[in-house]
Order: sequence, then structure tokens, then C-alpha cells
Amino acid sequence: MADIAGAIFSALSCICGTLNCNCIDQHRNFNDDVGELRRKLDSLTSRKQDIESRIQVAEACGGQMVGQQVQEWLKQAQEINVKVRAFLEKVQGVKWYKRACLDKRVCRKINVVKEMLEIGCFPEGLVIERAPARGNIIPTENLMGGISTKEEIWEYLMGDEVGMIGVCGIGGVGKTTIMKNLHNDLQRETRFQKVIWVTVSHPLNVFKLQKKIASAMCERLPEDEEVMMRAAALMEIMRRERFVLILDDVWERFSLKDVGIPDPKAQNGCKVVVTSRSIEVCSYLHCKIVKVQPLSQKESLKLFLNTVGDGVLEVPGLEEILKLIVKECAGLPLAIVVIAGSMRGVDDVNVWRNALTELRDHVMSVQDSNDEIFKQLRFSFDRLGSLEVKNCFLYCSFFEEDYVFSRRELIESWIDEGLIDGLPSRKAAYDRGYAIIDRLEKNFLLEKETSGPIAIGGYGFDVDGAKMHDVVRDMAIISIGPEFGYMIKAGMNLVELPNEQGWVKDPKKLSLMANNILKVPLSLSPKCPTLSTLILSSNLNLSEIPESFFGEMLALKVLDLSYTAIKTLPNSISNLENLSALRLQHCMKLKYLPSLVNLRGLKKLDLHGARIKVFPQGMGKLIGLEYLDLLFCPNLKEIPTGILPDLSNLQYLAVCCLQETTMVRNLEEVARLKKLETLECKFDDIRDFNYFVNKFKDFQSAAAYSLMVARAEDMIRKSKYELVIADCEIGEECIVLPNNLEDLWIIDCKNMKSSLDKTALLEKANELRRCHIRDSEEIECVVELDSSSSSSSCCPVLNKLELLELWGLHRLCELVRVEGVATPLHVFSNLKQLDISYCPRMRKLLPLELLQALQNLETIYVDDCEQMEEIIASSDSDTLSSDKFTFTFPKLRILRLWDLPQLKSICSDEGVVLDNGQPSPPPHLRVIEIGEESKEWWESVEWDHPNAKNLLQPFLKYSNSWWD
Ligand SMILES: *[C@@H]1O[C@H](CO)[C@@H](O)[C@H](O)[C@H]1NC(C)=O
Ligand SMILES: *[C@@H]1O[C@H](CO)[C@@H](O)[C@H](O)[C@H]1NC(C)=O
Repeated sequence: MADIAGAIFSALSCICGTLNCNCIDQHRNFNDDVGELRRKLDSLTSRKQDIESRIQVAEACGGQMVGQQVQEWLKQAQEINVKVRAFLEKVQGVKWYKRACLDKRVCRKINVVKEMLEIGCFPEGLVIERAPARGNIIPTENLMGGISTKEEIWEYLMGDEVGMIGVCGIGGVGKTTIMKNLHNDLQRETRFQKVIWVTVSHPLNVFKLQKKIASAMCERLPEDEEVMMRAAALMEIMRRERFVLILDDVWERFSLKDVGIPDPKAQNGCKVVVTSRSIEVCSYLHCKIVKVQPLSQKESLKLFLNTVGDGVLEVPGLEEILKLIVKECAGLPLAIVVIAGSMRGVDDVNVWRNALTELRDHVMSVQDSNDEIFKQLRFSFDRLGSLEVKNCFLYCSFFEEDYVFSRRELIESWIDEGLIDGLPSRKAAYDRGYAIIDRLEKNFLLEKETSGPIAIGGYGFDVDGAKMHDVVRDMAIISIGPEFGYMIKAGMNLVELPNEQGWVKDPKKLSLMANNILKVPLSLSPKCPTLSTLILSSNLNLSEIPESFFGEMLALKVLDLSYTAIKTLPNSISNLENLSALRLQHCMKLKYLPSLVNLRGLKKLDLHGARIKVFPQGMGKLIGLEYLDLLFCPNLKEIPTGILPDLSNLQYLAVCCLQETTMVRNLEEVARLKKLETLECKFDDIRDFNYFVNKFKDFQSAAAYSLMVARAEDMIRKSKYELVIADCEIGEECIVLPNNLEDLWIIDCKNMKSSLDKTALLEKANELRRCHIRDSEEIECVVELDSSSSSSSCCPVLNKLELLELWGLHRLCELVRVEGVATPLHVFSNLKQLDISYCPRMRKLLPLELLQALQNLETIYVDDCEQMEEIIASSDSDTLSSDKFTFTFPKLRILRLWDLPQLKSICSDEGVVLDNGQPSPPPHLRVIEIGEESKEWWESVEWDHPNAKNLLQPFLKYSNSWWD
């Protein structure tokens, strides 16, 4: 804790310029380091999960004990996880000059996490007695069929004869499922030291493959070396272990040696298993070939019923039809679940009979494909009904293989394509979008992916993502795409545009997302009179597109050049009269746009994070514009007045309010946008902000808003209605808060001398639930009461607050300051969480007078407050301390006290600890957590009541702060 103080003092010297620290540079390092810390922490988390699931399996085998070391590691990993996450969360809001000086702290944490990762490899295994598990368990369905295939592979794995095994079969037959089951069984085997699973992406990329294998072995290869050198390094690593390597879904020939995989032989006891749709690839690799056969009729039926629900058998007369339908699935598990999924909930025999006829027609009519399964998948696709939903499905294949897209990103794209159309609002469009995603997921045409928040450019965060099964995606691209005129070449490592001869005839949509295309050749002018969508996004180094390129693409409706290095857009864009969406997110080299005057049909212009210098010409003519994102365009200094009023159809607007001269007019103009649903807006100062809120009361009816008063660029996004005030002076100034504000952040605000209730901040914010005050130097207390103000009438808003967070407030001494005679106070009566950190002057946390009000408090976190002595303070006033004061926290669950070197008592002598007549702990208390450094203190505390310590002891938990 000395460190944070040190950091803060050096931060102060930093500002004064007395230290030779180049803050600007350090700022960049800081962000890198925070990123690094975050990644390391993610690795630690997944390592921990991995170990836990391995232990689960080991324990399920019975009779095994987890080693002491491993237990200790898991415990520490958990602690570190909690602390670092809390730290990262908080660090977000810190201004750059302080960040620079926090860097040391970040670096130290990186080292600690790194060290944990290193310790956490446990080459000797996790459990005592039997040999360890050597890979993680992969969640998988139970096997329906393929038992004999699995047994055959198992024999090869256990025997000495065969080193390379090739598991072949058509797409969707269940190769991967068999291997996942085997992989999990292998965890219980002692024969191998490592079981490695790697999904080989298509097309094969040796560099990536090496990386995946190495990281599965807890190793890293040099990033900047040639592939050959990396192969040698990988070979070295792999030689140390007796491994099984499973390479799932291999499409192309390659050589083990080039990648760096040692030849599996009887001598080294290693095995390589390849799954592939191609026997030819397996033969090339000299594999012993094992063919995966389709399911039997009986197995098929069982799987079908599992998916569709047993209930259907109760429908009279259905069984026969059902069996015939299952037969048409040709024993392919993927086909069975997809078709069963699309029939779920249908209990009318006629509908089933009709489905059978349709399915048979499909199987007969879909000819020219090698993949049997496309026929059945195609049936499910056709049952999607409307053309819009079908197109929504097909759009998912525009992203590269295994890409996890956020729902928001997907729905916005569908809106751009005109697939969700004719609805009165964007909210309604989103609702429709979510319904479509749900439908696709229920039909197994999309898979839900909840791997944590997915960041998506200007679209914020999404918790749920979605993904396409690779076979389903192949079907969409190969079997259906061409019929619709779609050409999908996403994530194919292309370095130039595909040759025109290879294009489908009269393409309608073309996705070249996520390749490495550098430039479009001069004078290329593809004749695509019907092309409506062109996606070139995430070709990170694409810098030039010639004037001629769009010359014969006049029907273009959607153009996406986001995440490219494009410097200028060709003027020929101006002629794309039918363009409706122009996406240019994060085009960091783009300074100017050509005139947009002719783009009368434009509905979306997304320049989030682009570097344009001048407001595009002709914007005023874009009367159909619904979505305009100009947020974080640092070079854009002005929005000319007189333009926004013409954009009366705007539903989504994200802007910074820039130049004083035009700002007022701009704001008045924004206020007149009646269709606006979501507003994201950044203001330079409070005056502007107040003006806006006063002038524009209606924006509060928007479905969502996110406002920021700041010079900084970070945007914290947590709730629907939020305001972030950062880096401002809020001394005397009154801030007019929107009535329906839920979340208020005050970050780095100077001159906040008076307490929260005196700033007049909160007067109208009746919906405010969460308040965060961070890094604001001058505030000394949160609430200030004098004897004249009756405390019950004080600031009613504070009584509705559920969360109060105070972080890095250097002068804060008190939560509530009472002048004169104290009586029990009634503030914070709804507070559930109190979170206070890095407040070095705080000595006493909760004054006695306040306790009766805090009946709803559930958690108290106190972290790193240098001078904190008492959690529940003794009273300075005589009136209260003459009597013993009795109180209880009926809902308190967690009391966490970290890094409080001066802590003397949780509760002072005058107050009886947690009394209920007899001392008793709060009924919901789960844990009292204190830092290891306070262990001695706890041991030595003398308690008023002889029983108190014994009562609390069971809840006590020490947390380790050695890493801090
Ligand atoms: C893209 O450009 C950057 C810097 O100009 C370079 O480091 C990187 O290797 C390039 N990437 C590709 C795929 O060419
Ligand atoms: C633009 O759209 C309109 C209406 O859909 C259509 O009639 C026209 O042919 C399109 N223009 C081009 C150049 O394709």
C-alpha cells in the first residue's frame, strides 16, 4: 500500500514537472501494459478452469487426491483473479498522467500473473496416486453411434503399430464428436503425457497452426521468426513429451516436419490423429485410415427423438412418417439434429407428412455437391420460410470461418442489407433481429457462443455472440451462395482480389473480409451491374482503391471498408446513387471523403474512429440518414450548422460537440431530431452540457443515451442511461442532470470541494442508482449536514442510491460530516454496496450515527486506505456514546478489508458488535475477508464481549496481498 501512495505522489510530481518522466510515452506503454495484463489474466483464468475441469475428471475416477501445491495454486489464482480484475476495472477511469505513474504497479502485476502461469503448468500432474491428466476436457455430446469406430481408434492409440491415424468421413458424420469423446477418455490414461487438441483452420496456415500447438503445450514460439525456425523450436518442445496430437478438420496436404511435429513412432510412443473429409489427405500423411460410418437407423431415430422431444411419439400415426424422415437423414448426426430442430414443436401429422415430401424432393434435387449432408441441411434452410430470414442466415457466412460475431454487429449488418426493413424504429428492428437469431439457433443453423464480452468497434459490447458450424457454413457458401449470386472469400489469406474469371456470374454480394489484400490494381473495373454488397473490411493494409473500381458497380448498396488503411475514397463513390450503408469504422488513414451529395439513399454513415478532417460535403442532402457515427474522430473540428436539421430521420447519432461557435446551434439542432432513439454524445465542458440538457429535455425519452463530459477519449459503457463527467471543474457550477439518469460517474474532476449533496448535482436525478466518484482531488466528504438541516429531508436522491463507489479521493476524510449535535441520520437508506479504495486520509468509515440507516447494506469493500483505523467509528459526540449503541446489518454478506495497515478495530468500544441482545453475527454474513498483513492484528484484538471473536471466526478469511 505504500506503493499506491508512492504512485500518487510521483503522479503529482509528474504534473508539476519535477520528475523526468515522459508521461506521453509512458501513456502508450501503459495502455500496452494494461492490455498485456488483461491478456495474461485471461490466460490465467482459462488455465485455472482447465485445471479445475481436469481435476473434476480425475476425481470422478475415484480415489485420487488433488496435490497440495495445486490446491494452493488454485486458491491463489482465484485471489489474484479477483484483485486484478478489480484493479483493471478501476484503472479504466484514471486519467493518463496518473496512469503513466501507475505503470509500475501494472508491471508488477503482470509479473505476478506471469509467474502464476509458469507455476501453473504442473508437469508432474495435478493429482496424487495416479498419473495426471494431460489436456483439458472438451464439452461434447454423448456418442450416439460410432462406438466400434471409437474402439478401433482406441486400439491404435494404445498399440505400438500405428503412429498416424486418419479419421475420415463426410462432413457432419460425427468425426469431431468421436474424437472429442476419445480426447476426454485419454485424460484418464497414463500412456501419454500430453493430449493436444487443435482445430486446423481452413485454409491451412502453418504459422497459426504452430502457434496453436505451442500454446496447447503451455509454450510460446518466437513471433518474428521464419516458419522454419519456429518449426525447429516447436520440434524441440514436442520431443520432450510423449504426446497425442489431434488435428481436427484438416483439408490440405502438409508435412509434419514443416510444422515442427516429430514423426510419431513406436520409439517415441507419440501419436498423431487427423480428422478429414478427404481420404486423399490422410493417405498423403501415411495415416492408418479409419472410416466413420453413418449412424444406424436405430441410432438415428434415438438422436432424432432426443432433439425433437419424445412427445411427438404420442401423436397418433406419426411414428411411421418420422421413421421415414429419419431415413432421409442418411445417418448423419448433424443432419438429424438440424432437421429435428426445425420440426420441434410441430404436432400435426399433415405438416410432418408434407415435410417428408419436401425433404425427399430435396434429397433428389440437390445434385451437384460432393457433400451428402448439404441436401439435408438445405431442407432446413428452405424451411426458414421468408426470403429475409434466409438471407439473414446466409449473411452469417460472410464472416470468416469460426468467427464469433456479436449480436449487435450481426443485426446492424442485417439492417444495412435491408433484411430488417419497414419497422418504425431501430428498437423494433433490433427486436426482430433478436427473434431471427433465436430462430436460427433453435434450428441449429447458428450456435450460441458465450465466451465473454465481445468488443465490436463502435458497437460497444455484447455478452452473447454467435457462430456458424463449419459444415453449415460450407453448405451456405458452396451449395446455396452461388444460387443467390453470393461469393464469399472471407479469411482466405488472399493477397489480391480474386481473378475476375473466378467470380460467380453477375455477383450480388461479395465478401472479402479479413484477408491481406494490399491494393486494388490500377484501372481495374469489374463489371458487376448487379453487385449490391461489397465487404472489404479487415484487410488491415489495404491502402488504395483506384478511381475506376466502382465505375461498373452502380447498384452497390452496402460498402464496408472498416479496419483498412485506406487513405482516400475514389470520387467514383459519389456516383453510387443507390448506396445505403457506408461503413468506414477505424479507417485511421482516411482524411477526406468525396462529396456525398448524390447518395440520396444513404441510411448509415459510420465513421467511428476515422481520421477525417472535414465534414463530408453534401451531408445535408442525405435526408434518409438513420445512423450517423462521428464519435472519436479527433481531426474533425466542426459540424457545420444547418445540416443536422435536414437529417430528420436519424435514429442513432454519436457525436462529439466540438467548436464553441457552432456547438450551441448544433445542440439546438440535435434537440429537434424527433426520431432519435440513441444518442451518444461527448461534451467538452459542463456549460455546454447544461445547456444541452436544459434545451433538449426530450432526449430523455430516447431508448438509451450515453453522455460524456470530458476531454479524454475513453467511454465507459455500463447502463442504458449514463453520464460520465471526467476531467472537468465542477466547483461552483451546477450540473443539470437528466431526470432519468441511472448511472453517474465523476472522474478526475477538480474543484469538487463541496460534498455531493451541496453540488446541486443530484437535485433532479430521481432515478439515480449508482454513483462513482474517482480521482477527484478536493472532495473532503460525501455528505455534509449541519444541525439546522433536518437529516431526514437531506437530499432524497441519496436515499435511493444502491451503489456508492469512492476511489482515489486524496482528501476524503468522511462519508458524512455532521456539524453540531448529531442524531441518527437517514441518508443512504437503500445503499447495497459501498466500495472505497485508495482514500489515504480516511480514518473512520461509518460513523455511528449512520448505522441505523444502513439496513440494506450487503457488501462493504475497503481497499488500500493507508490511515483507515476503524470501520465502524466511535462517535465524537457525547450524546450517542453515553449509551451503548446497538445495531445490526441484517443483509450484510461480505465485509472485505484489504491493505489497511492502520486498522485497529472493526467496531469501536462504544458500539456493541453486531448485537442482537446477545452478540450475534449478521444473519446473512458469508465472509469477512482481511489481508494477510492484518492477521496479527486480528489475533491480538481485545473484544468487549468474550464471545465476539468466536462468533466471527468462522467467517474469517485471509487474503494474500504479497503480489501487490
Ligand atoms: C501491414 O503493415 C504493417 C506496417 O506497415 C506491417 O508490419 C505488417 O506486416 C503488414 N501486414 C501484412 C499482412 O502485410
Ligand atoms: C437503384 O435502385 C432503383 C430502385 O430499386 C433501381 O430501379 C435502379 O435500377 C437502381 N440503380 C442502379 C444503377 O442499379
